[in-house]
Amino acid sequence: MADKDGIKVAKDYHVNEPFANMGDFHVKGANALDWGMKKHLSRIFDPQTGKTVMFAFDHGYFMGSTSGLERLDLVIPKLAPYVDVLMATRGALRTCVPASFRNGIALRVTSGSSMLNDDLSHEVVAVDIEDAIRMNADCMAVQTFIGADGQLSSIDNLSRVINAGLKYSIPTLGVVAVGKEMERTDRFFKLATRILAEMGCQIVKTYYCDNFEEVVAACPVPLVIAGGKKLPEKEALTLAYNVIRGGAAGVDMGRNIFQSPHPVEMAQAVRKIVHEGLTDKEAYEFYSEATK
Ligand code: R5P
Repeated sequence: MADKDGIKVAKDYHVNEPFANMGDFHVKGANALDWGMKKHLSRIFDPQTGKTVMFAFDHGYFMGSTSGLERLDLVIPKLAPYVDVLMATRGALRTCVPASFRNGIALRVTSGSSMLNDDLSHEVVAVDIEDAIRMNADCMAVQTFIGADGQLSSIDNLSRVINAGLKYSIPTLGVVAVGKEMERTDRFFKLATRILAEMGCQIVKTYYCDNFEEVVAACPVPLVIAGGKKLPEKEALTLAYNVIRGGAAGVDMGRNIFQSPHPVEMAQAVRKIVHEGLTDKEAYEFYSEATK
């Protein structure tokens, strides 16, 4: 291991220089991957825009029934036409999402804690690679706790999933978890996202922060950004706008869509920012008009 006392703080991220190894593929860091991986990544990231609107409704894996997601069978079919990817557990997908839906699938494969635990950082890999293949998952999502008590076991989980994914050409989505004791600083997110990318994740999910462009520049795979706790619609659209302007490859939003009083219109407004280049102001005007 390097002597960490001798390591200088990184400072030159060349934020205005595009990623140098895109080749002829539209997903950052994926140029050298094989056809099967690229096929899955193309179901996640639109080849026309290079971006994605992922809709996360995997909250039940540790929160149980959540406000806005009481009836997955009723909510998901209404939203599915407006999002590129459904991010969920296998239980939610098999029971409530018709296989005829053509969305990409981000399958959550770790679990192990619940709202009743103080420390959520201890998880296991709960889904076999064979089941991810059976479900035709386009990526496997692994919660990863850098700097938390469960760091070692979550990196072990992540490594196992990445290794299995490489064997069968299924990308791994590393999810940066933020524990109660961690600060949402660019320093933390640069550390966590880079560790996950260097572990071999093909996609990393993280949060927006100050100096976000530097977090993006330092991570050699696409970043998708969680929405986090419910915000007023205008603020949530500004968040989406800022992350796209900052270089994220998309959003992976949950509560800011499904807890909106108008989830379909909210998903459409987010989509307009991510894929059509609307500003937050223009997207909010669309949302306001559509919900009159
Ligand atoms: C968190 O670990 C889960 O993966 C959620 O899917 C994620 O936080 C995104 O949902 P939200 O936008 O509600 O934060």
